[in-house]
Amino acid sequence: MHLLKDRGFVHPIASEITPRAVYAQRRRLVQGLMAGAALGALPTLPAQAQPARPGKLAALPGGRSAVAGASTMDKVTPYTDVTGYNNFYEFGTDKSDPARNAGRLKTRPWTVAIEGEVKKPGNWDLESLLKLSPMEERIYRLRCVEGWSMVVPWVGYSLAELMRRVEPTGNAKFVQFVTLTDKAQMPGLASASLEWPYVEALRLDEAMHPLTLLAFGLYGEVLPNQNGAPLRLVAPWKYGFKSGKSIVKIRFVEKQPKTSWETAIPSEYGFYSNVNPKVDHPRWSQATERRIGEDGLFAKKRPTLVFNGYEPQVGQLYAGMDLKKFY
Ligand code: MTE
Repeated sequence: MHLLKDRGFVHPIASEITPRAVYAQRRRLVQGLMAGAALGALPTLPAQAQPARPGKLAALPGGRSAVAGASTMDKVTPYTDVTGYNNFYEFGTDKSDPARNAGRLKTRPWTVAIEGEVKKPGNWDLESLLKLSPMEERIYRLRCVEGWSMVVPWVGYSLAELMRRVEPTGNAKFVQFVTLTDKAQMPGLASASLEWPYVEALRLDEAMHPLTLLAFGLYGEVLPNQNGAPLRLVAPWKYGFKSGKSIVKIRFVEKQPKTSWETAIPSEYGFYSNVNPKVDHPRWSQATERRIGEDGLFAKKRPTLVFNGYEPQVGQLYAGMDLKKFY
């Protein structure tokens, strides 16, 4: 983020390729159909409304999620921006580095170790994780602490599904996410931009919240490497850096663990990192945001919403807490 010299805002040119435009069209169609339909199965779409697959990444479709708040009606960010403008420091600190350098990441075989305060610790291979629960599509706003945001059609299921299987003990109060560190595959590790591995964590109840997503795909396909393949977290009411990519370990612990950004700059990054327009970053305001792919460099910014707009769903998790103190 802004640990290294601020190189200013570099805005990518939003050049939406045809299959994605068709996809966006299908989304509008689905949303239109759903507006009148009862909650439940996704209606079958006419054949001509199906998007043409680019054929590069395997399809990973998800049914419509019934989780409250899981599908914002905001316009989705073009695929080229979602996959071309990324933060993934293991592949470099420039927004275009992950797309350029993550291609070499080997995402199979892949194992996620479940450790700590759980009744059923052990290793889960990717195939078992993919089968653990039905895939859902969730259209989430992602607000980066740097002041930009995107709207991403993720595919995955609630982290709670996995948590129920491994059965946290009564001592488990926090969940830590440890991501891959492999110098042979990740050129960004050579730089001391952060302490590796990249680690993040949530309070147990935050991790159990149905909106907290274990994502395996986006835009109806498996995750591109630069977006955190083969699996990453998405906690949509928190700043994007809480959503660790390429997770290899999930550890259940009693004490609040330190996260990578807290360790790097404790005066600027706290544990909670809930999106909050009223709590500024020490070096810039968090009141507004720039929606990637939608607006030009001089376009008006949009106001940032408390909890990124997910207050009705998650506000009660923080009842009575001073959000200025626990930022
Ligand atoms: N996960 C790892 N392992 N390494 C990172 O550098 N960056 C975070 C988060 N997860 C990061 C990470 C930040 S700052 C953001 S904003 C989001 O990933 C970006 O996700 P996206 O590239 O899919 O938009």
